[in-house]
Amino acid sequence: MRKMFIAGNWKLNKTARETAEFAASLRRALPPAAHTEIAVFPAHTSLAAAVEALRGSSVGVGAQDVAWEDSGAFTGEVSGAMLKEAGCRYVIIGHSERRQLFGETDKAVNRKLAAALRHGLTPIVCVGETLAERDANRTLAVLDWQLKEGLKGFTAEQAAGWVLAYEPVWAIGTGRNATPQQAQEAQAFIRGFLIKQFGQAAEAMRIQYGGSVKPDNAAELLSQPDVDGALVGGASLEVAPFVAIILAAERAGTSRAAAAMNR
Ligand code: 13P
Repeated sequence: MRKMFIAGNWKLNKTARETAEFAASLRRALPPAAHTEIAVFPAHTSLAAAVEALRGSSVGVGAQDVAWEDSGAFTGEVSGAMLKEAGCRYVIIGHSERRQLFGETDKAVNRKLAAALRHGLTPIVCVGETLAERDANRTLAVLDWQLKEGLKGFTAEQAAGWVLAYEPVWAIGTGRNATPQQAQEAQAFIRGFLIKQFGQAAEAMRIQYGGSVKPDNAAELLSQPDVDGALVGGASLEVAPFVAIILAAERAGTSRAAAAMNR
């Protein structure tokens, strides 16, 4: 059974001081969550503050990006070893903002995945179509291409524990989330791809949904069979909505566990 996973992608928000303050309030507000993994993804300069403030809690810390190289003349880059030593457990790879605004390609995603693997970081690999691609009925073809190129060459053993995130670009930061049916359709397709490439191991891989996840739509999205959590942007920047989404995941995870017991 797949454990729910709620991740807060803070993007270009929160200084180290703001991160420490947020982490302290989150710890106070955090409900017991046996069925939900939780993590936050601050900017690189706030990682140390997050790790320090969340030490001993159930909230993990990850980075929003990683260099594909380990060292050398690569101005502005941060390596997997640096992230690992800073206390990161996870890294987001191929977020649509990296792809669209910073020219990141599927080839780069592939190389960054190899870097995450070398340094023992759990990747969250993001895929998703633009509005034009959806309107042209190309959603599944785009996902297929991104997955084929991004995950190329990896074995089931290497991919154990990896997390995918379906983030339709038109739903990010727009307040317009995918319907639970649209999310499920895309995520079942992603699951099918993973099963083709990795076999049975794919049943244990989590697929998150991302794109305007809020307290009022989380429960319905998380009740879908192939939605194993959420990658949350805006609603992860304040404690109350983030906790509300964690609670929704915990309820969905509890129902999943009950259903599994009855099988
Ligand atoms: P929003 O939740 O702000 O739409 O952002 C989603 C996202 O991009 C998470 O990675």
